[in-house]
Amino acid sequence: MADLRSNFVGIKSPNPFWLASAPPTDKAYNVERAFKAGWGGVVWKTLGEEGPPVVNVNGPRYGAIWGADRRLLGLNNIELITDRDLYVNLREIKQVKKDWPDRAVVVSLMVPCEEESWKAILPLVEETGADGIELNFGCPHGMSERGMGAAVGQVPEYVEMVVRWCKANTRMPVITKLTPNITDIRKPARAAHAAGTDAVSLINTINSITSVNLDTFAPEPTIDGKGTHGGYCGPAVKPIALSMVSEIARDSECAGLPISAIGGITTWRDAAEFMAMGAGNVQVCTAVMTYGFKIVQEMISGLENWMDAKGHATLADFAGRAVPNVTDWQYLNLNYITKARIDQDKCIKCGRCYIACEDTSHQAITAMKDGQRHFEVQDNECVACNLCVDVCPVEGCITMERLEAGALDQRTGKKVSADYANWTTHPNNPMATEAAE
Ligand SMILES: Cc1cc2nc3c(=O)[nH]c(=O)nc-3n(C[C@H](O)[C@H](O)[C@H](O)COP(=O)(O)O)c2cc1C
Ligand code: SF4
Ligand code: SF4
Repeated sequence: MADLRSNFVGIKSPNPFWLASAPPTDKAYNVERAFKAGWGGVVWKTLGEEGPPVVNVNGPRYGAIWGADRRLLGLNNIELITDRDLYVNLREIKQVKKDWPDRAVVVSLMVPCEEESWKAILPLVEETGADGIELNFGCPHGMSERGMGAAVGQVPEYVEMVVRWCKANTRMPVITKLTPNITDIRKPARAAHAAGTDAVSLINTINSITSVNLDTFAPEPTIDGKGTHGGYCGPAVKPIALSMVSEIARDSECAGLPISAIGGITTWRDAAEFMAMGAGNVQVCTAVMTYGFKIVQEMISGLENWMDAKGHATLADFAGRAVPNVTDWQYLNLNYITKARIDQDKCIKCGRCYIACEDTSHQAITAMKDGQRHFEVQDNECVACNLCVDVCPVEGCITMERLEAGALDQRTGKKVSADYANWTTHPNNPMATEAAE
């Protein structure tokens, strides 16, 4: 049986599945039930500085996007950091860590951007016996208006400064949580790395307004006729998170920087993909808020089964394996030529592939044959874009088939070359032509 034990920046957990800092980790009652269900670790809901706790709105704090089957695809929230007393949280963290020594307990923090504030809170957290801290530089609403959260995460110089303060004032590992609300995610990651962070975690939530009520003309969630942007998360953000993780994983300036991946992780497969993309472990929020703590059991068994089937004995066996396969567009092989193939036995003749191809620009699928509905790809028009595969409602009905070297590409009238050739050497590339001259 595959060994799922994880060691992330020296923090050990029985599996790589941690709960992200959010409502499921806001109190001991929750965290204990999460551990009973099998979660390997938690990042405690973000603590703020000593004093009166923050105040949340008393109306709806979530907005959502659903699929046609009403499955939750994206969740938006306007919740702030913990609104429970600092010392109550610290006491509970200490007790939970004592009772669950084999699980990871990391504490998320957000205090004003002044060294004194960080110096004041770090020893309090250290005293709990927690395994590490996560710096919340990501919250995009409410706290950012007060100069914290994303307001820090969006300025690499601030990120570097605060990480340095934390590294200088605690022996605990420091995980820097990044905001995706930035043009180039590598900039804050590099700043955190330069300051000596032990790891980065990403993504926090994405600025978003999920909908506008067309009766009241107010954004949702609506508080007494007004709304504000919130933070978007859930399955819809996974592709954005995966891309950002890949950018850091393949950045030479961030070489060796451990990554804790967050964003839309719902299944063992999502987790395996992020880990193949360079993440050391994963954190989950929306999936647990939607389906409950016990989904970790399916994540654990699914990952074990896949690792057993593939012969991966430990997490290290597949960690980062996808990273060398992420490249820039200009290096993609232009001699890799495929054509769409429709399995007539599976086709239910709905015509979606035809409409998509016809109206997208390629006109490569026929809709009729001998007066009957019949959908077939015309190789002389197919540019191999894959759109028909994506819109077809029958899984596996349309597949992309590679043309072998030497075969005739009916669209271009040229034989397929066995050689790899990319844009950097293509005759249409002015830069390539200049280089050749
Ligand atoms: C209601 C809610 C509250 C959150 N609160 C925090 C927080 O206090 N600190 C933090 O770092 N991230 C917070 N997050 C962000 C999550 O930790 C996570 O980064 C984000 O939801 C993406 O993961 P997911 O797609 O699995 O939900 C919150 C998310 C939600 C939905
Ligand atoms: S791959 Fe693209 S061009 Fe080819 S048939 Fe499908 S939609 Fe049309
Ligand atoms: S979308 Fe799929 S099922 Fe529908 S006609 Fe095209 S190939 Fe057949």
